[in-house]
Amino acid sequence: MNELKDKVALITGAATGIGRATAELFAREGARLVLADYNADQGEALAAELKQGGTEALFVRTDVSKAADCEHAVKAAVTAYGRLDAAFNNAGISDGPLPPGFIDYPLELWDRMMAVNLSGVFYCMRYQLRAMLETAGGAGCAIVNTASIAGQIAFPGIPGYVAGKHGVVGLTKAAAVEYGGRGIRCNTLAPGFINTPMTAPVFASPQFQGMLPMAVPMGRVAEPDEVAQAALWLCSARSSYVNGTYLSVDGGFLAQ
Ligand SMILES: NC(=O)c1ccc[n+]([C@@H]2O[C@H](COP(=O)([O-])OP(=O)(O)OC[C@H]3O[C@@H](n4cnc5c(N)ncnc54)[C@H](O)[C@@H]3O)[C@@H](O)[C@H]2O)c1
Repeated sequence: MNELKDKVALITGAATGIGRATAELFAREGARLVLADYNADQGEALAAELKQGGTEALFVRTDVSKAADCEHAVKAAVTAYGRLDAAFNNAGISDGPLPPGFIDYPLELWDRMMAVNLSGVFYCMRYQLRAMLETAGGAGCAIVNTASIAGQIAFPGIPGYVAGKHGVVGLTKAAAVEYGGRGIRCNTLAPGFINTPMTAPVFASPQFQGMLPMAVPMGRVAEPDEVAQAALWLCSARSSYVNGTYLSVDGGFLAQ
């Protein structure tokens, strides 16, 4: 119940899917929360719901592709709670339900994928690391970045997503080796096939349903809370010697 008691945690992409499930779980574990997302309606509603349940939570409208927004979200945490202990950089976008293909990949889509999925994580980490050092001395702090199984292997037709998620793995390692000695652990969380608003249209197709039992050793997709549980472990003191790792939550997909 109290894995994150009194810890201050910032979650990006908190309005729906994996981010939302993580916010709900962190709230149950006693954290004080900053929810950052560009979806203000659902973000505000979640913050209100959590507050009603007794959690200290605030929503900050944030577009992670803008450095100033990321800085503002971190500042909001420090202003409200005086410190930052944990961050889950989870906001992300897909390159569409249909793979656009490499040579036809729209250039604007490439720029947007890099801006949100890669630069967004860098901007957030840049301000979070500074805030963790300044407000908590770094000790016991943790950053978890959401990559994907596409951060370790490639899928055809989605070069922007694959490159961005590989980049997240690199960024996480870069921070892990630089800041591990100062108490801040940085790790990558790599979801496989998770049932969220991002994936629901793809998962609903008969084509996907047909290949699922063959594609995933466990034969099913996961619910967002199954990823949130791993985020909790990586943010909590239970993973105190885990730094720079890539933890896949994929039902055995990458083991094949
Ligand atoms: N669902 C899966 O199967 C799966 C698999 C691997 C990785 N992921 C990754 O998990 C993360 C969460 O995705 P999800 O499946 O929960 O999808 P989702 O669409 O439900 O959640 C993504 C959240 O990020 C927010 N967001 C998007 N762009 C943003 C921006 N520029 N600034 C701020 N917030 C922004 C959205 O509003 C949304 O709340 C993403 O990084 C995604 O790439 C998901």
